[in-house]
Amino acid sequence: MTISPFAALACPLDGSPLVHGERSWYCENGHNFDVARQGYVHLLPVQKKRSLDPGDSKEMVAARQRFLNAGYYERISDAVNLAVGAVLQGNEPASFLDAGCGEGYYARRLADALGQSRDGTGIGVDISKWAVLAAAKQDKRFSWVVGSNANLPVLPDELDCILCLFGFPVYGEFHRVLKPGGHVLQLDAGPEHLRELREIIYPELKPERPDNDDAPDGFRFVSSENVRYSLPLNSQEAIADLLAMTPHLYRASAEGREKAAALQSLTVTVDAVLRIFEKA
Ligand SMILES: C[S@@+](CC[C@H](N)C(=O)[O-])C[C@H]1O[C@@H](n2cnc3c(N)ncnc32)[C@H](O)[C@@H]1O
Ligand SMILES: [Zn+2]
Repeated sequence: MTISPFAALACPLDGSPLVHGERSWYCENGHNFDVARQGYVHLLPVQKKRSLDPGDSKEMVAARQRFLNAGYYERISDAVNLAVGAVLQGNEPASFLDAGCGEGYYARRLADALGQSRDGTGIGVDISKWAVLAAAKQDKRFSWVVGSNANLPVLPDELDCILCLFGFPVYGEFHRVLKPGGHVLQLDAGPEHLRELREIIYPELKPERPDNDDAPDGFRFVSSENVRYSLPLNSQEAIADLLAMTPHLYRASAEGREKAAALQSLTVTVDAVLRIFEKA
C-alpha cells in the first residue's frame, strides 16, 4: 500500500487541468510552473499575493518543525488519523489535501498511518514557501504546493478528505474540490489551549468565544471531539519554539516575551477541538 503525490492539479490562473512535464507543470493555455529542486511547485500567482513573503516566516516554520518532530502534539495527530480512518469507507484508495499544511507533520503521520491499509494520494498546500520547502524536504509521498486556500490549485470534485489544522478554512473552495460526500476535518484551538503560557505573556486573558458547531454552507455537521491533555515542557528551547510557532509571539508584549524566555520549564494544557463536516 502506498500514498503517492496527488496529480489532479488546476492552473491557478485559469483553472484548467495541469499536466506534469519533465520538470514543470503546464496547462493548455501556455502557463508553465517549474518544479523546484526539492520537489515542490509554486502555484500562487504574484497578483494573488498580498505580501512579498506571505504566511509563516522561515523562523516560525523551523520552530514548528522542531516542536512537532519532538512529538509534543503526537496525540493530536493520532486523533486526526483515527478520525480520517473513521470517515473513509472500506479500504478504497482515497485522496487527501492538507490545507495550510505547514511543514507537513500531520500529513507525514497520516501517510504513515493510512499507507498501511490503503492506497491513496496526498497534497499539501501552504501559502508560505518556507513551510512547503520544509515539507518537501521531509517527505516525497505528497505533492507539495505553494498556494492559497482561497484559490486552491485543484480540479473540482477530486478529494475525499481535507485537513485544515490550526488553519484558515475557505469553505467555498473546500466544497468545490471535495467529492460529494467528502469530509473536512477542521482542528482549532479550544478555550483552554496553552492557557498557562497565555497567562504568562498577556496581562489578562480575553473571554472565550462560545463553541460553534454550525456547519458551513453546503456542508453537514458530523461530529466534534476535544483533544485535551497536560503537556510538560522541560526546556527553554521547547517553550521558545511553542511560542514562536503561534500568533502569540507577535501579540505578546516585550515584557510578556521576556517572562516566557526566562522559564526553564512549564506545563501547558493542550486543548484542541476537532470538528468534522461532510459535503452535502
Ligand atoms: C498555525 S499554522 C498551522 C500549520 C499546520 N497545519 C500545523 O498545524 O502544523 C497556519 C499555516 O497556514 C498558512 N496559511 C496562512 N494563510 C493561508 C492561506 N490563505 N492558504 C494556505 N495556507 C495559509 C501559514 O503559512 C501557516 O503555515
Ligand atoms: Zn493556465
